[in-house]
Amino acid sequence: MKTIQFITMRVTEHPVFQNFWYPVLPAVDLQDEPVAFELLGQRLVLWRDGTGQVAVMRDRCCHRTAQLSRGKVVDGNLRCPYHGWQFNAKGICVQVPQLADMPIPASYRVSAYPSAERYGYLWVCLGEPIAPLPEIPEAEQPGFRVIPEFYEMWHCSGLRLMENSFDNAHLSFVHAATFGLQQEPAPADSEITELADGFQFQSVVPVANSPLQQQNLGMTSDRTHRILNSRWFLPFTRKLHITYPNGLIHIIVTAATPIHDSSSQIVQFCIRNDQESDAKAADIIAFDRAVTLEDRAILETTDWDTPLALDAEQHMPSDKPGIIMRHKLAALIRQHSHS
Ligand code: FES
Ligand SMILES: [Fe+2]
Repeated sequence: MKTIQFITMRVTEHPVFQNFWYPVLPAVDLQDEPVAFELLGQRLVLWRDGTGQVAVMRDRCCHRTAQLSRGKVVDGNLRCPYHGWQFNAKGICVQVPQLADMPIPASYRVSAYPSAERYGYLWVCLGEPIAPLPEIPEAEQPGFRVIPEFYEMWHCSGLRLMENSFDNAHLSFVHAATFGLQQEPAPADSEITELADGFQFQSVVPVANSPLQQQNLGMTSDRTHRILNSRWFLPFTRKLHITYPNGLIHIIVTAATPIHDSSSQIVQFCIRNDQESDAKAADIIAFDRAVTLEDRAILETTDWDTPLALDAEQHMPSDKPGIIMRHKLAALIRQHSHS
């Protein structure tokens, strides 16, 4: 078994990461054509069968390895572009044009994986789930609206984005142009409650309130504060739950779905207890977008091959969330390591 000194966040080297649910695609982006997605270094094809049901399979034909995502959905099956073999949603080959009526060997099949549709996204687990799909009750409650914000690949590891989400010390620097208070770099205090599959994070953070945000929040003051009651879900999903003094709730859910060791698919949506007539979705996205691009510019410069040993990097008290993440990730990897 590897000691912690040698454990890094090369996610493809740790099979345990296959046992979590990850959002891989906005559900509306999967229509008649198959779509390719790489998850934990595994090439997948997503498609909808004749009933609209989502199928997820390895994107590699069992005949001559052609990419099935270049094929077509025909009669509710996925047809390989190379020799036309057809596979059903379970990955079983149900038609081989060249064999006419001869029986199809049972070995003609590709691996299929479970999927779920939740919060407007398609989620996939490559193994046996060891944690439920992250619960975001507000996304399904009346009085709240869900706004898809963006979906894009970043060159950084999931851990880097997760620890950044709970890092009160970077706001005055990275977010000076959006909401950080430049003259007040001291990080707000926070309280963390550890949970089996992550933690709960509470903090009250003073922030600048730009003209765009004044409009989005319905508050004219040029500064305000955020009451945070946020959640980290192992391994790479965060839920920032922000309440503003006027009662407005702005929840940002972000997943850093691991594509490969050095890249993550960033899936972000927000949930609010107001309506389009109160604040336009486009303006809300514009603000959150600007903030996230500020983070991206920094996070893509960090080492993606993040070590979990604490002596590999230097720390300060406000780094506690990231330290707990390192402990929990290292424990998880060790617990499920067979070598
Ligand atoms: S490679 Fe797929 S049918 Fe031949
Ligand atoms: Fe940030």
